[in-house]
Amino acid sequence: MASYTVAKISEIPEGDCKSVTVDGEAIALFNVDGKFYATEDTCKHRGGSLGKGTLNESIITCPLHGWTYDVTNGACEMNPQVKLNTYPVTVEGETIVIEK
Ligand code: FES
Repeated sequence: MASYTVAKISEIPEGDCKSVTVDGEAIALFNVDGKFYATEDTCKHRGGSLGKGTLNESIITCPLHGWTYDVTNGACEMNPQVKLNTYPVTVEGETIVIEK
């Protein structure tokens, strides 16, 4: 695992999300009540960008067809057999750092 600085905390206000590219891979970042989470960005249904979805508490809704996932653990609410990869997140000063 390596550490990657992926964004400034000011870029992702509470309740918001953002897609970033980390080492060639699309990652979605989420701010749930001031705590940051990271998952793979690509929806397991047909590849929608979850970082462009709508976040409601810890649930992200895919912008394409509405599949929902819990960003704290990657679980898909529509299909329990589907799970997003998640990545450990730390905040270092003003920056968000993930391990992958
Ligand atoms: S691509 Fe995400 S719900 Fe269809």
